[in-house]
Amino acid sequence: MNMVKVRAVLSTVLLAVFIGVLFVTIGVLYTTKTGHPFFGMTKPQLFKVRNILGPLMNALIIVHLAINWGMYKRELKVLLRK
Ligand code: HEM
Repeated sequence: MNMVKVRAVLSTVLLAVFIGVLFVTIGVLYTTKTGHPFFGMTKPQLFKVRNILGPLMNALIIVHLAINWGMYKRELKVLLRK
C-alpha cells in the first residue's frame, strides 16, 4: 500500500472515531443536564465507551501526526519564512 493510501485509511478511521467521541460527548452532556438516558445509554455506560474511544483517538492522532510530520514541517517553514 502506498503512503497516500495509508494516510487516507488512517484519516478515515480517525474521522470515524472522532464522530463516535462527538456522539458520546453530546450524550454525556445530555444525561448530565436531563438525567435521562441517551439513545438507551446511561451516563456510566457512556463513560465506558468514552474510556475506550478517547485513548484510541489519542493513539491514532499520535500516528497521524507522525506520518504527517514532514508536511507540517514544510508548512512551518513557509509560515516562518521572511
Ligand atoms: C478528526 C480528527 C482528524 C482528522 C479526520 C484529520 C484528517 C486529516 C487529513 C485528511 C489530512 C490530510 C493528510 C492525510 O490524509 O493524512 C490531515 C493532515 C494533517 N493533520 Fe489531521 N486530522 C485530524 C486530527 C488531527 C490532529 C488532532 C492533529 C494534530 C495533533 C492533526 C495534524 C495534522 C497535520 C500536521 C497534517 C499535515 C497537513 C497539515 O498540517 O495541514 N490532525 N489530517
